[in-house]
Amino acid sequence: MSRYWSPIVSKLRPYVAGEQPRIPGLIKLNTNENPYGPSPRALEAIGQAADDRLRLYPDPTATELREAIAARFGLEADEVFVGNGSDEVLAHTFQALLKHQLPLLYPDVSYPFYPAYSLLYDVETIEVPVDDRFRIRPSDYERPCGAILIPNPNAPTGIGLPLADIEALVAAHPDAVVAIDEAYVDFGCESAVPLISKYPNLLVIQTLSKSRSLAGLRVGFALGQRQLIEALVRVKDSFNSYPLDRLAQVAATAAIKDEAWFETCRKKLIVSRDALVRELEALDFEVLPSQANFVFARHESRSGAALQAALRERGVLVRHFAKPRISEFLRISIGTDKECARLVSALNEILSA
Ligand SMILES: Cc1ncc(COP(=O)(O)O)c(C=O)c1O
Repeated sequence: MSRYWSPIVSKLRPYVAGEQPRIPGLIKLNTNENPYGPSPRALEAIGQAADDRLRLYPDPTATELREAIAARFGLEADEVFVGNGSDEVLAHTFQALLKHQLPLLYPDVSYPFYPAYSLLYDVETIEVPVDDRFRIRPSDYERPCGAILIPNPNAPTGIGLPLADIEALVAAHPDAVVAIDEAYVDFGCESAVPLISKYPNLLVIQTLSKSRSLAGLRVGFALGQRQLIEALVRVKDSFNSYPLDRLAQVAATAAIKDEAWFETCRKKLIVSRDALVRELEALDFEVLPSQANFVFARHESRSGAALQAALRERGVLVRHFAKPRISEFLRISIGTDKECARLVSALNEILSA
């Protein structure tokens, strides 16, 4: 703490990102990155755009990218908002749409950035407990609120809600924005995008970091009816006119258009995930049913912290959250089959020691 800080700074509880160590040979399954790499067309687009034009500012409205996203989802470009990762899109959403007199509701076990943004933007919140099986119960959200934020599938549990439940939530709260964070939706969950034309209070947020393997590019987007998108644009243009640089815009546009690459990689990952679940269960792990590119698992015989440390010693990084309710779990991102095999063999060694 410093006497020079604005008063709010000492109250913040910033998000702590998973570590990104530069240790050669490390199996990195701790930050839900996609092992298969971005579309070659995205890389080509970066190569073609990396020239003298970088002296010019990028398109502040990222029109070409928004048009590509709109075409992909059957929407209009003014129903699309883009930002520097879905983290930035979420941050603007907190400020533009989720801050009201009544509290914002989100699950108690969910993405740790939500409480961080709540403090930053002074949003009153209620963390609604997930049930004993770590499921979001839509009926728990039947209470007065200013807005609702649901990750679907949830993170770090990986558990998804059926579209009918999402629709019931959106329909039950016509006076509140219901934001669905679909960072991992492409790995087996139903998207709420088809509901957008029907519900003016629905905002869907997605990212290119996971299913399009572009975490390093930092591109996320929100989809919703024009009035919601306009609120986000007003906040963005009061913050940073150019959140997406020229290279990010062209690469993201190419990635969105490369449906074949997207389909191949996401299907491969789903197969690997389901195989890993079977292997973990064979080692007596309890694995929550995952619709994401990670699994959340615990073992009776070892604490989550001990397992994480033992894996790290063997060159395998996974994520552990020292938090109430979930401290016994490990969140394991799905890697290539070879990486998953290294993980399983390390776990075998640890558990038989
Ligand atoms: C639930 C959830 N939402 C949003 C994000 C943000 O992703 P990005 O900022 O890379 O788009 C993450 C990242 O891990 C996440 O887990």
